[in-house]
Amino acid sequence: MTVEPGERTDPAARTTELRELIRHHNERYHVLDAPEIPDADYDALVRELQRLEDEHPDLRIEDSPTQLVGGAPSGAFAEVEHRVPMMSLDNVFDVDELRAWAERAERRLGRPAPAFVCELKYDGLAISLRYEDGVLVQAATRGNGRVGEDVTANVRTIADVPHRLVGAPPVVEVRGEVYMKVSDFRALNAAQDAAGLKLYANPRNTAAGSLRQKDPSVTASRRLSFWVYGAGEIVGGPEITSHHQLLDWLGSLGLPVNDATAVVGSLAEVEAYVADAEAHRHDRDYETDGVVVKVDDLALQTELGVTAKAPRWAIAYKLPPEERTTRLLDIMVSIGPSGQATPFARLEPVFVGGSTVGTATLHNEDQVRAKDVRPGDMVIVRKAGDVIPEVVGPVLSERPPGLPVWEFPRDCPVCGEPLVRGEGLAATLCVNMECPRQIRGRIEHFASRGAMDIEHLGEQRVDLFVTQGLLRDIGDLYTLDLDRVRALEGFGEISVRNLAQAIDASRSRPLANLLFGMRIPHVGSAVAELLARGFGHLDRLLEATPEELERIEGLGPIIARSVHAFLRQEHNLEVIAKLRAAGVNFEGPPVEPTAPQVLAGKAVVVTGTLEGFTREQAEAAVKARGGKSPGSVSKKTTALVVGAEPGASKLTKAEELGVPVLDEAGFVQLLETGEVPQ
Ligand code: IVH
Repeated sequence: MTVEPGERTDPAARTTELRELIRHHNERYHVLDAPEIPDADYDALVRELQRLEDEHPDLRIEDSPTQLVGGAPSGAFAEVEHRVPMMSLDNVFDVDELRAWAERAERRLGRPAPAFVCELKYDGLAISLRYEDGVLVQAATRGNGRVGEDVTANVRTIADVPHRLVGAPPVVEVRGEVYMKVSDFRALNAAQDAAGLKLYANPRNTAAGSLRQKDPSVTASRRLSFWVYGAGEIVGGPEITSHHQLLDWLGSLGLPVNDATAVVGSLAEVEAYVADAEAHRHDRDYETDGVVVKVDDLALQTELGVTAKAPRWAIAYKLPPEERTTRLLDIMVSIGPSGQATPFARLEPVFVGGSTVGTATLHNEDQVRAKDVRPGDMVIVRKAGDVIPEVVGPVLSERPPGLPVWEFPRDCPVCGEPLVRGEGLAATLCVNMECPRQIRGRIEHFASRGAMDIEHLGEQRVDLFVTQGLLRDIGDLYTLDLDRVRALEGFGEISVRNLAQAIDASRSRPLANLLFGMRIPHVGSAVAELLARGFGHLDRLLEATPEELERIEGLGPIIARSVHAFLRQEHNLEVIAKLRAAGVNFEGPPVEPTAPQVLAGKAVVVTGTLEGFTREQAEAAVKARGGKSPGSVSKKTTALVVGAEPGASKLTKAEELGVPVLDEAGFVQLLETGEVPQ
């Protein structure tokens, strides 16, 4: 999806396009907790749409994203209807817009507001907490503002959220922001890194993802925090006439009120507060993306009222994303434990977003090409989500003449063997089994919990054993020379025995774990499970042709070819022979019968990226149930399944023809029942 301003397109078309884009990004942000564009770009889209709707009132519609709050509930949690709707805030981006907001309020009131409360705009997610007789009974996300998700069990694990309020009236519903402290975020990522796991992008998305975990103990382990900033339904309690009194009262009940909150008497003081918030943005242990200004007097708030989406008595002053320019010294490629080659920028160090940045990610080959950044360029650097530095693009006006286009290196910087671009993937890989980075990565992966779960064999030990020449591949684990291990520094009799027992125990792991542990390209744990169930024994899999592999429901031609090729490579066969000699379990569960033909005669079109299926798997799942999966939508289409970044034309066509549109959950239901869910 593009974010180009559509100056040449006509307003009606651009309005439709913008609505589609904004809905898409709403879903990414509010439902999937995985935004694709920076907040500032999103805000620009909303503003452009707002401007078009203002200029062309005939283009206004009731369910335009300008009129709606946040995202729809995902269905993963029980729904909670908010007794008092959870509204959003309108944004301003500079002092002139702030003044215009205050003037509009003044015109409505017929006099200036005598006082404002300034609060920081915490970058987390909104939550509503309901206390009955002082006891926390429910916590809900904002959802679409009217209906949110019940996340009570998870919220109870947040240390800042009191389970009981002291001296509370019968009903106190409070609103606030759940967030992750920057220090907790860094500690979490350090732990992920040490375990060789994927790093989280930023505190906000991590907080949102953590709160929407099915298992509250996962939420607890993430150490979330909370600030209260308002109220919903209140029954009983003292008479309160201003927002600052409300905050004081909530604080006295034991709820955490941020002490950077200030009551001010003029707009000039609001402006000073904003300047201070911006200057100290990175001195705090939590992220803020602006300041929220609220008319203090509750009677005036009522007089000002609300629009469909936001109160007129409050405004969010958004701070700009932090961007700086610096010289791109070089583009390098790092090799990850799975052989993935990731380009990154080496920069002349620059202070951005609260820290000095010397390297920044360039994600993959396509991104470098799309951005066309070249060593020697001046580039714009931004902290994506204000944490991970990212190169936005070159400053073309400053490009030195004749700067050559950067070429992705042909060879792995670690082992010197050729790099390969994965079929159907954005990733470029080092596939040399002998690459030292690969050897370590493969053994670490084999030993990891989702694979053979070999305790006492962490990254450091793997690294040590590989450097000492004790291990060259996963097959060597079972003939590890324990005398040589014993002779290494830091290994006593007990630790050697524990390690030996752990390796021994791994011999009887299920076949799916073994297949996953072998790190066959394209074979994650779900596909490994399919292979184990589909063939029942590693020896049968070794004999399988690509066609036989493709017959397994959920396997497409890319995976089939990948598995087939992997099991033909001499080195891999040698490793398998070592595993066999070591008595590692090759036996899988009994082979399952084929799926019931619930989609016979039906056509299901898939567009966009799904989370649990590749496109091939989704299509194969339809075919395995007797259905067809054509490439385009027609009158005969039973349903259109829409993942992330769907094709706009398919979606429009489906809407025109009244073809039901399903999300991934709906698709899974369709596969199970053959019926289009309502
Ligand atoms: S007041 C009816 N105060 O910003 C007014 N919101 O962009 C409701 N937020 O959904 C919001 N800090 O999640 C308010 N001090 C603050 C805030 C704050 C962060 C978030 C909140 C809201 C979003 C709107």
